[in-house]
Amino acid sequence: MIYNQNDSVRLSPDGKSVVIIDQTKLPGEKKLLTLNDEAEMFDAISSLKVRGAPAIGIFAGYALYVLACRFDEGEDFFERLEKTAEYLNSARPTAVNLSYALDRVRNAALSKAGCGRQEILETMKGEAEKIHLEDIESCERMSRYGLSLVKSGDGILTHCNAGALATSRYGTALGPLLYGAERGYKFHAYIDETRPLLQGSRLTAYELMSAGIDCTLICDNMAGLVMSQGKIQACFAGCDRAAVNGDCANKIGTLSVAVLADYYKIPFYIFCPTSTIDVNCKTGADIVIEERKPEEITSLYFDRQIAPEGINCYNPAFDVTPNSLITAIITEKGIIRRGESIEKIL
Ligand code: MRU
Repeated sequence: MIYNQNDSVRLSPDGKSVVIIDQTKLPGEKKLLTLNDEAEMFDAISSLKVRGAPAIGIFAGYALYVLACRFDEGEDFFERLEKTAEYLNSARPTAVNLSYALDRVRNAALSKAGCGRQEILETMKGEAEKIHLEDIESCERMSRYGLSLVKSGDGILTHCNAGALATSRYGTALGPLLYGAERGYKFHAYIDETRPLLQGSRLTAYELMSAGIDCTLICDNMAGLVMSQGKIQACFAGCDRAAVNGDCANKIGTLSVAVLADYYKIPFYIFCPTSTIDVNCKTGADIVIEERKPEEITSLYFDRQIAPEGINCYNPAFDVTPNSLITAIITEKGIIRRGESIEKIL
């Protein structure tokens, strides 16, 4: 596996740690973290040092391998593997890529039950690298499909961050912008800041500016106005878990963008690799929505508390956009337009 220095997640050269870009430090500082401890890995996922559904999956695959290399000779390997996978999986509930990658690496190990430990570990490493390579390929394919839906000069509204930091290389929903820019397309991106964790202003603005793409940051509640002013020709968002009926969970606020886009008759596209489709969820009602700490609303990123002490807060990290509001879902296997079944590509 050839790693790129800009990969937000990679295996260390000696294979003993997972190296990530600490996304909580961006845009101010590009800090690398080298992780090989179970609790630190759990914290990296739950505190969003590594975030974005595909990146969480890639990280979890490598993490399970790195941790398995450290299991004691004396303990039951598969029992410990099961517990470790369960522990990592409990770090965040909504992005399905977490359980998807852990299942793949654990099943790869199980397929070698009865073989020597070294062979089991090599198989796990191979599977984790495969997940990473597949994501690189899938991001490029989605970027190409996405580019076919827009034209140079278009204004594109984005929500949260679904670029290279959240995936590998081009990203999913930012892919057409980054891939298109390399091919001479000129877009103007409007970036929702994405309250409360500001993935739009901290990460998407950083990635698009670094790539030289013309972009403007707006607060989430300005999206309606810029749409009404005719500045937006398409909305692009990522996905954390898609149900089989095409309902898609993504960062909180995505649903509001979709409702506005529907009102202003602007196409609303969700970028969703097939690794993010959960065949166990029939509809969006089956998707568990993560709820996070009130402090993210009341004080994080402010130099003082900005709400009365003790105020009740509700802080769901994701919402579900119903399939009826999604113009098309872009996967690496093709574009699924409204009314078409997701099952056709599975
Ligand atoms: O809470 P986050 O920052 O992990 O949420 C991320 C998103 O909602 C992304 O849009 C999604 O994971 C897709 S990333 C390609």
